[in-house]
Amino acid sequence: MKIGIVGGGQLAQMMIQAGASLGVSFALLALESDESATAICSEVHRVRGFDREGVAAFVNACELVTFDHELVDPAILDSIPGAEGKVFPSARTLRMSANKARQREMLQAEGIPSPEFVIALDASQLREAVNRIGLPAVAKAAHGGYDGRGVFYLDGPADLESLLSRLPDSFELIVEPKLNLEAELAVLVARSRSGEVATYPVLRTVQLDSVCNEVWAPSEFDTRIEDTALDYGRRIAEAVGSVGILAIEMFVVNGEVLINELAPRPHNSGHLTIEGCAVSQFENHLRAVMDLPLGPTTLVARAAAMVNLLGPPEPVDLVAGLNPLLRVSAARPHLYHKSYRRGRKLGHVTALADSVDAALEIARCGAAAALSVPRGASSRSSANRP
Ligand SMILES: Nc1ncnc2c1ncn2[C@@H]1O[C@H](COP(=O)(O)OP(=O)(O)OP(=O)(O)O)[C@@H](O)[C@H]1O
Ligand SMILES: [Mg+2]
Repeated sequence: MKIGIVGGGQLAQMMIQAGASLGVSFALLALESDESATAICSEVHRVRGFDREGVAAFVNACELVTFDHELVDPAILDSIPGAEGKVFPSARTLRMSANKARQREMLQAEGIPSPEFVIALDASQLREAVNRIGLPAVAKAAHGGYDGRGVFYLDGPADLESLLSRLPDSFELIVEPKLNLEAELAVLVARSRSGEVATYPVLRTVQLDSVCNEVWAPSEFDTRIEDTALDYGRRIAEAVGSVGILAIEMFVVNGEVLINELAPRPHNSGHLTIEGCAVSQFENHLRAVMDLPLGPTTLVARAAAMVNLLGPPEPVDLVAGLNPLLRVSAARPHLYHKSYRRGRKLGHVTALADSVDAALEIARCGAAAALSVPRGASSRSSANRP
């Protein structure tokens, strides 16, 4: 069985790692850059962009196709004979779940709560939207944003003017109130082609400057919040007809759960499922796409925590950082074969323990150690010696 993955980032890398034990081989449709998974995959189809020609040739070369990101235009998939029934999630699911405006419209139709929002397609609509929502507000690119790119905080009128001066001629933004977040949660729903559904334990996520920084489970919220979050997750997965993992990011505001956004693929919040759950999000994603039975999603320890390795302000040597990282013996390393860039997700560290506090402590120590060797310093230090 050969599965094609559109995109070659760290999600593709971890899918390949999980798929190897299922006997799957992989091909990647990757941009011409140093993407993570290209380091561990022998069949890489290089493209300049995800246009019809490249995607069609790739779909024809694979038995099944899935995604590491949601940058392929669903209309392209619709136009490829044979893509339906072979590409998961489907064009229909991508259409509903890869654009923040379509997501919010779907949630409204389903009666599932999300923040109040207004869609803006030009400058005057944006002014009008901000008037209606009031300041402080948040404007978000409906499509293509990730890791906070495409999220604009409008604290005062000057922020709106500055955003207007930077916007391209054509855009789609959603504008919503800047909320006082009690917490952020993520729910991961695995759904197979034949409709089998499994949900992971509710995950608690912490973002720094809009980028995921730490995740842990259990969420430490009461069952009312957790059951509501899981119920919304299952309903959304049915509504969009997802196949594979559907990640749903949620806010807790004034004791209520609001849906922030969806991602129709494995998700950063679920990386701790590799060591922390009986079957990881990556393996269940592949099982779902292959229409195999889903595996158990229960935590295998009392608590699991994950800390991202985000490129610090000064360049670091991650290879040299492996030695100090592994001295934190319970910390489990995941490096993404990526070169250093400030703020870039370079890897993550997971730890399991008897409490969330203990797991977080180990994962934070491991992450700090991983990022502790400045670039150029490794040859002079003993950090890399056995
Ligand atoms: N209305 C809001 N009020 C307060 N904070 C917000 C709001 N919307 C977003 N944020 C913060 O910004 C983060 C990123 O926003 P969002 O998830 O919408 O964007 P994104 O860049 O698409 O994220 P991702 O990296 O998950 O793709 C949120 O996780 C949250 O911390
Ligand atoms: Mg997000």
